Amino acid sequence: MSDRQALKQAAARAALKYVQSGMRLGLGTGSTTGIFINLLGAKVQRGELHDLLCVPTSEASAQQAASWGLALTSLDHVTALDLAVDGADEVDPDLQMIKGLGWALLREKLVESHARRLIIIVDETKLVTRLGQHVPLPVEIVPFAAMATVRWLQGLASRVELCRTSEGEPVLTDNGNYYVHCYFDDGIVDAEALSPQLNAWPGVVENGLFLNMATQVVVATEDGIQILERSS
Ligand code: 5RP
Repeated sequence: MSDRQALKQAAARAALKYVQSGMRLGLGTGSTTGIFINLLGAKVQRGELHDLLCVPTSEASAQQAASWGLALTSLDHVTALDLAVDGADEVDPDLQMIKGLGWALLREKLVESHARRLIIIVDETKLVTRLGQHVPLPVEIVPFAAMATVRWLQGLASRVELCRTSEGEPVLTDNGNYYVHCYFDDGIVDAEALSPQLNAWPGVVENGLFLNMATQVVVATEDGIQILERSS
């Protein structure tokens, strides 16, 4: 196992202790969350946890959770979640995040907005001083007039790319929308202002800035697990 993989494993394992029987639990998406779902499924199968009701944030996570026999539902059937666990692409010192490079940001944001606690599991490479310095900001857009939306986004970012498959077709999200990556040469200077500005454009469905959402971030480092807590 690579060092990075071992760190993801450690973060996922550390988050398991926050899950209690009877919880309504949001399940994120991505490789770190994938490890978490496997550990969770195994724990349920060993009978160490029971009566969980899980709301997945992607078709992939739903399939993985179902393969462990975890009980699944949707936000249509539960009003609030006790806890959601997910990964992130970048986390800044205020626990603001970029998420969605695993194509699931809309469902993640929707599901995690209903969670009383959101625990983020990352390895230390995801910690940054300013969001957007190392990874692009993903934005989900409607297919209609997609290039018009891309042109509008080009006025805000240094560079914008429509995400395509290896066959050159636009990547489709679980919601049938397109994805773009917005690159910011100097990082994102004012995420609090940018997020509503992006979402106000009619062609934009949602953006990958997850602001004031994480309750705790479980960071796996070479020296062990660090828990970062939101101050307010
Ligand atoms: C998916 C996400 C993921 O949580 C994020 O991309 C991190 O993924 P990984 O754990 O594979 O690094 O936001 O939409």
